[in-house]
Amino acid sequence: MKPPMPTVVADQLLLGGPVGLVTERDLVALSLGLGAHRVGGFSPEELALTASVTPATGPLVERVRAEILRGKDPLGDMFCSARTSSARRPQGAVYTPLLIVRQMLRSIAAQARPDRIVDPGAGSGRFIVEAGRLFSSAQLVAIELDPLAAMLSRAHIAAAGFSERAQVILADYRNARLPRIAGQTAYVGNPPYVRHHLIAPVWKRWLVEQAHERGLSASQLAGLHAYFFLATLIEARAGDVGTFITAAEWLDVNYGALIRDMLLDGLGGTKIVVVEPQAEPFPDVMTTAVITEFTVGSRPTSVQLQRVKSIRPEWVATEARTVGRERLEAESRWSHLTRPVRRGPEGYIELGEICRVHRGQVTGANKVWVEGAHSSGLPDSVLFRTVTRAKELFKAGSTLTDATALRRVIDLPEDLSNFSGAEKRAIEKFLAYARSLRVNEGYVASRRRAWWSVGLRRPAPVLATYMARRPPAFVRNVVEARHINIAHGLYPREPLSDIVLSRLAAYLSTATRLSDGRMYAGGLTKFEPREMERLLIPSPELLMNPT
Ligand SMILES: C[S@@+](CC[C@H](N)C(=O)[O-])C[C@H]1O[C@@H](n2cnc3c(N)ncnc32)[C@H](O)[C@@H]1O
Repeated sequence: MKPPMPTVVADQLLLGGPVGLVTERDLVALSLGLGAHRVGGFSPEELALTASVTPATGPLVERVRAEILRGKDPLGDMFCSARTSSARRPQGAVYTPLLIVRQMLRSIAAQARPDRIVDPGAGSGRFIVEAGRLFSSAQLVAIELDPLAAMLSRAHIAAAGFSERAQVILADYRNARLPRIAGQTAYVGNPPYVRHHLIAPVWKRWLVEQAHERGLSASQLAGLHAYFFLATLIEARAGDVGTFITAAEWLDVNYGALIRDMLLDGLGGTKIVVVEPQAEPFPDVMTTAVITEFTVGSRPTSVQLQRVKSIRPEWVATEARTVGRERLEAESRWSHLTRPVRRGPEGYIELGEICRVHRGQVTGANKVWVEGAHSSGLPDSVLFRTVTRAKELFKAGSTLTDATALRRVIDLPEDLSNFSGAEKRAIEKFLAYARSLRVNEGYVASRRRAWWSVGLRRPAPVLATYMARRPPAFVRNVVEARHINIAHGLYPREPLSDIVLSRLAAYLSTATRLSDGRMYAGGLTKFEPREMERLLIPSPELLMNPT
């Protein structure tokens, strides 16, 4: 019969040194020796792993138990050395540093006394065991798809002394059904990070359908962590709470809209904490992580946003910032909102609080879409006075008052069926000309719903240059000119009076420094829309009544 553990591992553990040379079979033996079978829910798949394995006994088992009682997770560490990171990747098995686990659970303890803790994708049980320590009478439920990891979490739970109130369920979290309980459940953990191309089509359909049933739209490009958020929304009851740590990309990418929408409605987000890569949220991958706290069933009016710069030797976080619901609804990227608000004098706020900044439309070929001899005869209704060069704004001074000096951009509607006679002929002639230059096949035009329809944005009441060797010009646009992508438009979130808009443009023109933007070689400075939204301005009240 096979000895329970190779001597070298035993020696290293007994000496308290690093762990190596462990096989998965050794881990099964060790788990049995620690009492894994005492935790409810032992599955046939786990039973199969134990075939012809003798439970480990003796000083090694006691040493591992002692480590667990000291708050360590030697089983998880051994698992990560027995199974390489590339072998763990398809299941998204990256274990969470204990410092982060503790911080996340402490934050939940500060707001709730849950009756049950559910840890989806439990791995070696770091969250569920730590939760057992913190919530001394809560029921503990770990859900895990991998039989070996499930067995390790059992052993971990048993060694920590929580077998009586714990259960490990070997299941896919997306269709694991949990019994209803009368009290509050806390969902805690680190949902697996698995990219969409490793997710089966049947699950992609599940995501879209389940989201649709709840009035949400889902992208099939979503990673597995989005599925875990949705499964939690399905399973949880109003008043339940949760904290998940995931890769941060969903804050900013298109598929993340599903998670962002859930947090604004149903999975009520309360706090979002970005953990910067230098804090090493996951030791073997250089990545930005995000911790998301939620209270199920709520529609938050605001969410707290924060960044963590270090977790060692202590948790170093920026001051939390409260961001209102409207702003979160309006933004398709959230990570920049986690940066602390710049402190200005009393009454000053960030421009983004009152205005969205949008880059102007890209035409794809200005020589075709800006009117000229090639477009003669087109109806006035498709020609729009547009700022097409930054110098037009620099020249305008504080206010753009004369639109006639601006060139016109051709912006045809998607539906051309309303034109007839001479207008229709002129449009057809123009389109034939554009096709002769293969403009319709260009990158930008071919991605439009109708290649001929540029889709200019509505006039912005304030226009700004964003790339120059001088600070940007902010110009009040009283002639309702449109703009293309050489300028940004400032769009008030709520209506602002003429006087406030003029003072806002005047303030920004004098107060914005080159150092607020991003400097490129040769002294060229660029302001991305999000950077412009971070500029500090007097509040509308202060602009109205300057002291
Ligand atoms: C990122 S690891 C986290 C492990 C542990 N909670 C921790 O934080 O240390 C994710 C875990 O989810 C498991 N997993 C992957 N897909 C799953 C699924 N569909 N249902 C349940 N668990 C799954 C993996 O096997 C892995 O153990």
